[in-house]
Amino acid sequence: MIDLRSDTFSLPSKEMMDTIINAKLGDDVWGEDPTVIELEALTAKILGKEAGLLVSSGTQGNLVAEMTHLNRGEGLVLESECHIYMYEVGGIGQIVGAYPFLIKGEDGLMDPQDVESIFTRDYNVHWVEPKLLCLENTHNRGGGKIIPKQNIDTLSQIAHANGAAVHMDGARIFNAAVATGLPASKIVENVDSIQICLSKGLGCPVGSVVVGTEEFIHKARKNRKVLGGGMRQAGIIAAPGIYALSNMIDRLSEDHRHAKLLEKCLIQFPNLNIKPTDTNIVIVDTSNSSFDANTAIKKLSNKGVLATLMGDNLLRFVTYYGITIEDIERVIEILSQVFG
Ligand SMILES: Cc1ncc(COP(=O)(O)O)c(C=O)c1O
Repeated sequence: MIDLRSDTFSLPSKEMMDTIINAKLGDDVWGEDPTVIELEALTAKILGKEAGLLVSSGTQGNLVAEMTHLNRGEGLVLESECHIYMYEVGGIGQIVGAYPFLIKGEDGLMDPQDVESIFTRDYNVHWVEPKLLCLENTHNRGGGKIIPKQNIDTLSQIAHANGAAVHMDGARIFNAAVATGLPASKIVENVDSIQICLSKGLGCPVGSVVVGTEEFIHKARKNRKVLGGGMRQAGIIAAPGIYALSNMIDRLSEDHRHAKLLEKCLIQFPNLNIKPTDTNIVIVDTSNSSFDANTAIKKLSNKGVLATLMGDNLLRFVTYYGITIEDIERVIEILSQVFG
């Protein structure tokens, strides 16, 4: 099977596994795991922020950030197909106690005028007030779409001018950095907090890091604890993270090349609509095809390729560490058999 369901299926390399065996450990709830301390400082430095916090997952990282930025009963502005809103079990409601203001984006990209109109309403007694803007970069359902720096800066400026903070779900921020050539710290220079995933394109088995100011991370650490996210010898998670940040970022360009090859093959089939991919995610719309996305997934799986269903007429392919050019060539042959 060639598994293109998600970059979360990436497996750690031997070199990465070795870092786990050799990690120096301590009790991180007591702030005494040297490997966790090193990972948190390294991530903060790479993203140009003061401090970092290791969390168990991207979902936990986003949740901790939302809890830290917001009081119960406050609002947050989100793109309507973002991961936080669609796939995080409604944590913003059931745990943060926040109200979502949704903005319909274009492949994840929000129009500044739409964002401005939410922030500048006449907030009389009937309204929840938005105190946080969340961005997702790259955008998963947008087909790995890179949110342009100009857009991030404009939206951040609007939020800040209206007394709100900005959080970025940067599960795949390094895909954006590698594809644009911009340092990740530059991309997020006007954003207050960022969650990055170690367990996606970077190939780690588990973990995410949230970064922000010292004060923000101090509060976030308590919120992580309340969610049961205080982990003891968490250096076994941090060690592969340090390895990934040093060795696995530049190679993401290989995943992007592979995604482009898939895109190039798929656009040949007139019955399919392909979202142009900027990075490692290819989304295919089967609305005009004689079979739906679910049937396409079954046909592909019967021939040895796994893809993910993203809606009645949408399927997704994701490239990642461990998927070779030979795999991609084989997938292209199979795509031609199924869609050609
Ligand atoms: C954009 C985005 N944000 C957050 C997450 C959540 O990460 P996790 O699965 O580690 O909770 C994902 C997971 O796929 C994602 O794609």
